[in-house]
Amino acid sequence: MQYRQLGGSNLNVSAVCLGTMTYGDQNTEAEAHEQLDYALAHGINFIDTAEMYPVPPKAETFTRTETMLGHWLKNQQRDKIILGSKVAGRNRGLSWIRNGDESLTKANIRSAIHDSLKRLQTDYIDLYQLHWPERNVPLFGQYQFDPKLELDAQGNQKAWVSIHSQLDTLAELIQEGKVRAIGLSNEQPWGIMEFLRLSKEYNLPRVATLQNSYHLMNRTVDFGISEILYRENVSLLAYSPLAFGHLTGKYLDDPQAKGRVTMFLGYAQRYNKPNVAAASVAYAKLARDHGLTPTQLALSFVMHRWCVTSTIIGATNMMQLKENIAAWNTTLSPEVMLEIDRLHLLMTNPAP
Ligand SMILES: NC(=O)c1ccc[n+]([C@@H]2O[C@H](COP(=O)([O-])OP(=O)(O)OC[C@H]3O[C@@H](n4cnc5c(N)ncnc54)[C@H](OP(=O)(O)O)[C@@H]3O)[C@@H](O)[C@H]2O)c1
Repeated sequence: MQYRQLGGSNLNVSAVCLGTMTYGDQNTEAEAHEQLDYALAHGINFIDTAEMYPVPPKAETFTRTETMLGHWLKNQQRDKIILGSKVAGRNRGLSWIRNGDESLTKANIRSAIHDSLKRLQTDYIDLYQLHWPERNVPLFGQYQFDPKLELDAQGNQKAWVSIHSQLDTLAELIQEGKVRAIGLSNEQPWGIMEFLRLSKEYNLPRVATLQNSYHLMNRTVDFGISEILYRENVSLLAYSPLAFGHLTGKYLDDPQAKGRVTMFLGYAQRYNKPNVAAASVAYAKLARDHGLTPTQLALSFVMHRWCVTSTIIGATNMMQLKENIAAWNTTLSPEVMLEIDRLHLLMTNPAP
């Protein structure tokens, strides 16, 4: 395992991060703890969660993941673990979060972190992330900015909490020792640059990380965002490296295979797009032609990309977790990389 610094922060994290968003729905607490113990024993010191988890988000399961994590964390040496969590944003219709007012006001962010710290049974969160932007942006499978969504039903400009105000609140949390570093998630180039500009102009904390979707079927980060990451020293945390399981090849072998995609119909809309099946077939064939599993190919590609600092893996059983962590040791040959480039040009970002 390699360890890498997150942006300009003091956080040194493993190149593989353990995602937790199945804990409390697809996984029981005992299974969650088994995964966490195994990951830790195999060099992973970085854990990603969110107040909203597990997914799919539901009123009856809301916050379960952080609670389960808290039960585990209290028995660990806290300073050996880098813990990331997130505050949910607005516009997702999650009426059970702060009574449906999930805008990123000072009061809401403060209330969110207060509750997260309690559930996580810790005094601080190493990396506190804004789960998605406050303003209107295309999210979770939407792929075009829509200016019409800037307006309400009466045609008035919708209000949103300014980035300056969001940064101000995060600065307070850092000063109070509740947070060590801050990050964005599901952000767009304009938002990342605006956060960085305001930090500089008002001497506010700088974002260390960007947590966006990045995998063989979604390389939108490569267009525009990757240059920002490089020049501005922002670390990419790549989520959904297996495209919700599509890149494991299991739905090709059996379209009804048990998994998130067949269990939660309607949830994985991001992958309900015309070239997803064709791309899954092509990448799985490429892997198998070179003696690899589709999972090894997909994970190794993300884990060893220059622009990825840590790859957030997810698993619902120990077999998956073992395969996924071991994929760190898979090296893709120049021949395989060339073929990946060719497929990428033929089917560019089928699941943006
Ligand atoms: N910031 C955000 O908005 C955001 C969004 C998504 C995820 N994340 C973070 O990233 C983490 C990982 O995301 P993800 O779960 O979407 O990652 P993923 O790698 O795309 O999908 C993981 C899922 O694929 C299946 N799978 C994993 N390994 C497998 C294997 N070896 N063989 C067969 N199936 C396998 C499992 O689901 P099944 O068993 O159900 O098939 C597993 O839960 C999350 O836990 C979360 O921490 C963040």
